[in-house]
Amino acid sequence: MPRVLSCIQPTGNVHLGNYLGALRNWVAGQHECDAFHGIVDLHALTVTDSPGVLGRNTLELAATLFAVGLDPDAATVFVQSHVPEHPQLGWIMECTVSYGELSRMTQFKDKAAKREADFVSAGLFTYPALQAADILLYDADEVPVGEDQRQHIEITRDIAERFNHRFGPTFTLPKVVTPKAGAKVTDLQDPTSKMSKSSSSEAGIVYLDDDPAAIMKKFKRAVTDSESEVRFDRATKPGVSNLLEILAACTGRTPDAVAADYSQYGPLKNDTGEAVVSVLAPIQERYRELLSDRAELARLLRVGADKARAVASRTLERAYTNIGILPPT
Ligand code: AMP
Ligand code: TRP
Repeated sequence: MPRVLSCIQPTGNVHLGNYLGALRNWVAGQHECDAFHGIVDLHALTVTDSPGVLGRNTLELAATLFAVGLDPDAATVFVQSHVPEHPQLGWIMECTVSYGELSRMTQFKDKAAKREADFVSAGLFTYPALQAADILLYDADEVPVGEDQRQHIEITRDIAERFNHRFGPTFTLPKVVTPKAGAKVTDLQDPTSKMSKSSSSEAGIVYLDDDPAAIMKKFKRAVTDSESEVRFDRATKPGVSNLLEILAACTGRTPDAVAADYSQYGPLKNDTGEAVVSVLAPIQERYRELLSDRAELARLLRVGADKARAVASRTLERAYTNIGILPPT
């Protein structure tokens, strides 16, 4: 079974795009691979500066991951900071990547530019080194991520190759896999942009914990176009196509097949809203249950951290040995 690893930052509410585009694929794939999923709180620290926020977001994201169906007996779900090997190997990665390579990372350039006059931490710059540690610690064969993360996986391969060349075979080179058929969900108010945590308007984002009335309202107000034909065509009909893609993803059909059932926008909006409400209802129920039993949630995360550490500590040891770091006596 291939070892598959992907991580997510606890930087705010999980939305429908995260679910249909990523989390649902993690759940679907968890029995066909040896799955590791990290909640990367130390990565989120690059953009977090108020006390208490990170821990709360981490706990809520953990509850979300189990609620959407990650099975703690199949997948290893862990919190990055519970596995100290991440920052330990992260430092070694920083010493294996160059300033020039990090300077070329588009995510750093974008995020640094967006923060404008805000504080741009050195951690935001060295972020890909920590991400390389996340991946290489687990000898991951495959890393399923969105297109925006491709550059970070490529730099991870470069770092691994350089390390192996310097110190001898140590790390497995991971492959990027772009998840098959992951739905691409756009903003309901601005359907040419990705649904994203950083969108300006709340009305365009459906959060996993939105109540049914809020979800229905967001879909009823979804931006479409001034025609009246229902057709799947992302380029000329982004709003309608987004609704079709969401409804298709929720009902296991194709957007074109769904389009054939509709001749008006109103019923399409309504049915898409209802489909989302019914997909999210059981998830929301499990989410509330999990959050009301903190001891159980903590236990699940401890199991995940133990499984993760068992693998990560061996890899770190191998790296230390191959470098020839003097062991403590
Ligand atoms: P982010 O919220 O950008 O940290 O993304 C977490 C995961 O969700 C990544 O695997 C993304 O590729 C995926 N994702 C985020 N937004 C969307 C979206 N609008 N449509 C589909 N997938 C998404
Ligand atoms: N950088 C990724 C993001 O912004 C999150 C991440 C951190 C990650 N470590 C990872 C993804 C390791 C895959 C593998 O979405």
